[in-house]
Amino acid sequence: MNEFITKNRSLLLETEELLNKQIKLEAVSSAIYLSMASWCEIKGYQNSSNFLYAHSEEEKMHMMKLFRYVNEAGGHALQPEISGVPLKFTSLRKIFEQILEHEIEVTKSIHTLVDHCFSNKDFTTFNFLQWYVTEQREEETLARRILELFDIIGEEGLGLWTIDQEIGKLGAGNASSATAV
Ligand code: FEO
Repeated sequence: MNEFITKNRSLLLETEELLNKQIKLEAVSSAIYLSMASWCEIKGYQNSSNFLYAHSEEEKMHMMKLFRYVNEAGGHALQPEISGVPLKFTSLRKIFEQILEHEIEVTKSIHTLVDHCFSNKDFTTFNFLQWYVTEQREEETLARRILELFDIIGEEGLGLWTIDQEIGKLGAGNASSATAV
């Protein structure tokens, strides 16, 4: 690392490591949702598939925001290695259960980062991360709304087809609120 960068470094090494961990988690999210999108598509859940393709792109955007931030702050954003992404899933409901579980883990990870930045008086990164705090609240809420559909509509008869339609509507609503940001 050259002298200019060392002198202008504003990130603690520990913060940089945590941010790189978060970069990897967002990349893993993007990869898993892409895999889920593909499974839904070949099973005929076209709206869920579209929802998940878009969600995968959104996660990539989350990763890139962090990636650029780390380098701008004088750190080194690391291209994450990803392996072991599941390729097959057992049901549409299971997919959304897994998404909720995964998003809860992502929220915990963001909160750890925020807590670390606050404790270390890194108010710039703390401020940068507020966007993720809000985003995680929205993502968890959306996953919960979708899971409720399985209980309200039921999976028998035309149930799964209807649920897929409703997921499409929730996805469209989410996309328009994302564009409004
Ligand atoms: Fe970017 Fe869904 O966490």
